[in-house]
Amino acid sequence: MPETMTALFGGSGPHWTVRRVPVPQPGPGQILVRNRAVALNNADVSMLADADPTSGGTGKEYRAGYEFAGDVAAVGDGVDTPAVGDRVMGTTPESFAQYVLADHRHMVPIPADLGYEDASALPTGLLTEHGAMMTGGFEKGQSVLITGATSSIGLIGVQIARALGAGQIIATTRSAGKRDLLGRAGADIVVVTGEQDLTHAVLDATGGEGVDLVLDHVGGQTFADCLPATRVDGSVVNIGRLDKAESTIDIDALSYRHLRVFGVSFGFTRAAELGAVLSAAAAQVGPAISEGRVRALRDSTFGLENAAPAAERLRSHQAHGKIVLTVA
Ligand SMILES: NC(=O)c1ccc[n+]([C@@H]2O[C@H](COP(=O)([O-])OP(=O)(O)OC[C@H]3O[C@@H](n4cnc5c(N)ncnc54)[C@H](OP(=O)(O)O)[C@@H]3O)[C@@H](O)[C@H]2O)c1
Repeated sequence: MPETMTALFGGSGPHWTVRRVPVPQPGPGQILVRNRAVALNNADVSMLADADPTSGGTGKEYRAGYEFAGDVAAVGDGVDTPAVGDRVMGTTPESFAQYVLADHRHMVPIPADLGYEDASALPTGLLTEHGAMMTGGFEKGQSVLITGATSSIGLIGVQIARALGAGQIIATTRSAGKRDLLGRAGADIVVVTGEQDLTHAVLDATGGEGVDLVLDHVGGQTFADCLPATRVDGSVVNIGRLDKAESTIDIDALSYRHLRVFGVSFGFTRAAELGAVLSAAAAQVGPAISEGRVRALRDSTFGLENAAPAAERLRSHQAHGKIVLTVA
């Protein structure tokens, strides 16, 4: 085991800085992972911006990253599994480094036939989409509406819904050109917002009843439009606010339909709960991942030590799918 490693820090400018720091040792319940690949999330670029002192940010230094995939290098006291040498993927802060320390509950085995780069791009989408479906009480055969479905995690949501036996899957995008992408992911019906009225399109597709479950990544007016598109006693789970966090809803639609509305934000979930969400997702979706039916769409790959273009690509909003950093 080397004494030092490369790690990315934010807080000094618009880009991460590469530094050498000591390799940490796992404490009780922790695992040290030798990373092979890590993946970017939108939170990574918003944290960079918030801490960037050259544009009014805090200037507070922090270690970057959330998602990782690699090999277990050492385990702390009280950890039975995984064992040294096992391939794992997971989520924890400070993952943009050659080694990362994580709670043993916050990683799962990498399913067979999944490479490190694909694995690093999966944990956030896997736990978020599966966790949201379970929060919304999903049952096999139910119809699911997924808004902002071409987002990195939305595409994983479409595939998971298909893999878990959803009935009808309705997916939204603002871009007609992405219909095929959503069809390949498993959507039965694609609604192009801006061209079609979301509520009417969903009611038309469901015989006027509405869907059983909504996974909303968009918020704003879209969230409001989902309520009258949900069947009586159905569930709406807000996952993201790609549009905006404010929404003016028709409370009649909520009450007359006896809807259950949930919000999930797994980055703010307690450690034990996050472990339970991740392991339930891995157990139920693992076979579909191994069979190649659930995969993160990968946009591009850069090296950990040359991560500036990766952040630029995410900021540009041109990326289709996940941006991955390989770790030498
Ligand atoms: N709850 C949680 O625990 C959790 C975890 C991770 C992420 N999230 C949230 O989930 C959302 C998706 O994350 P992601 O990383 O997968 O996103 P992403 O890959 O960056 O999503 C990009 C896509 O979102 C769509 N989009 C962008 N702006 C939009 C707008 N104003 N209105 C409607 N659609 C818009 C676009 O699709 P089209 O061009 O096809 O419309 C775009 O291609 C984000 O809000 C993120 O913060 C939540």
